[in-house]
Amino acid sequence: MSEKPRTLLVVEDDPALQKQMRWAFDQNEVVLAKDRESAVAALRRHEPAVITMDLGLPPEPDSPNEGFRLLGELLSLAPNAKVIVLTGQSDRSHAVRAIGLGAYDFHEKPFDPEVLSLAIDRAFRLYDLQEENRRLMDKGQSDLVGIVTRDPEMLKTCRTVEKVANTNATVLILGESGTGKELLARGTHNLSGRKSEKFVAINCAAIPETLLESELFGYEKGAFTGATKLTLGKIETANGGTLFLDEIGDLPGALQAKLLRFLQQRTIERVGGREEIPVDVRVVCATHQNLTELISAGKFREDLYYRLAEIVLKVPPLRTRQGDPVLLAHVFMKKYGVENRKASLNLMPDAISAIEAHQWPGNVRELENCIKRAVIMADSNSLSAEDVGLKQADAHDDEAFNLRIVRESAEKLAVVRVLSRVNGNLSKAAEMLGVSRPTLYHMMYRFGLKDGEPAQDRP
Ligand SMILES: Nc1ncnc2c1ncn2[C@@H]1O[C@H](COP(=O)(O)OP(=O)(O)OP(=O)(O)O)[C@@H](O)[C@H]1O
Ligand SMILES: [Mg+2]
Repeated sequence: MSEKPRTLLVVEDDPALQKQMRWAFDQNEVVLAKDRESAVAALRRHEPAVITMDLGLPPEPDSPNEGFRLLGELLSLAPNAKVIVLTGQSDRSHAVRAIGLGAYDFHEKPFDPEVLSLAIDRAFRLYDLQEENRRLMDKGQSDLVGIVTRDPEMLKTCRTVEKVANTNATVLILGESGTGKELLARGTHNLSGRKSEKFVAINCAAIPETLLESELFGYEKGAFTGATKLTLGKIETANGGTLFLDEIGDLPGALQAKLLRFLQQRTIERVGGREEIPVDVRVVCATHQNLTELISAGKFREDLYYRLAEIVLKVPPLRTRQGDPVLLAHVFMKKYGVENRKASLNLMPDAISAIEAHQWPGNVRELENCIKRAVIMADSNSLSAEDVGLKQADAHDDEAFNLRIVRESAEKLAVVRVLSRVNGNLSKAAEMLGVSRPTLYHMMYRFGLKDGEPAQDRP
């Protein structure tokens, strides 16, 4: 793969072994550390892809405690690094525990340098491959710039946008506050042939009713006191481009009629004007309100609704999107990490559990703010549940006694968590879960995390 020597961190307290290992693995750039502190310092400084570590480290070389502590620290600082643990011969249980904690592999001491060398090579290759995958993933989750999701429902919504963007169909976007409605509206514009023209947004709830008409339709000079010059409205300003009517549910009745006329005739009349002016705009609107209820209550015109709802996009709330909270948390952590010059941040397991458990009433906006705040305030590179300001998830559920259900839901949770943690890299997810790729496919299908047929060859 890569030609330049790769950095291997060797954590070993015995000087004779240090020498032997430096020599045996000299096709790599070997960095040595003799204890936990120096290992962590070397990790930060050299960012090695592969690490070998002795479990018995000073000050307690005969116990694995210090080694396990180091392993936890290494993996929380560099979750993608491949750690190979070296154990004494009688320590099989330690090896199992190390793998459980996230170590990549273990070898018994005394090790065969050739065998260990092969394992190290394989670890480097796997790391490179996963890095490459991560780079590809980073390039974009969807054609829709800015939309990050791996949730099947949300992906369906994105696919609909991709399909309808290049038509002139009117799009109605429905979803709770902070779910990404505006992002989808902009995406619809940016994927359309109108991309180089204007995207004009107006929030129908934010402008007093008396001003809204002239905001939308513009006015002629002298139309009312203070109308000193001809002023174009938002609809005309958007000519050739896209008009985004946000909070359409709050549009007052009189204006609903006027908007309907525009949608039918595609012409406008400025306030105080008599001329019918043709305008070519694509209309996208959004609301967090339940329009059907507003219609029953007589607050929203049904005929307008059908004009607006040529294509309806439903944006699921964040709490129902599988794996998205943690996925988005990583994305925002990276974004604000760069902005605040804090590199290599990571989320600690308790933060991840808390993010998964939280109900996110404020949706993506709430999550974004929460991570932004945590990144700004963080004293270390690892963000805990406390840092993100969330209560630690309660691990106990006394209600669940049926073992099959317990197992199913634990399996599903593990798959969702791992998928969001590895950023969709299925090989890595399968490896972390300790199952084959076909088994993982099958599980994803079974838990509704994937469309299509279940894999046939489930062991
Ligand atoms: N899927 C997503 N991926 C990345 N960022 C997102 C996503 N969804 C929303 N955001 C971000 O979350 C914030 C809120 O999104 P947006 O303003 O589009 O939501 P909204 O539904 O219009 O909210 P409101 O109803 O409150 O106006 C924005 O900063 C947006 O960039
Ligand atoms: Mg909005």
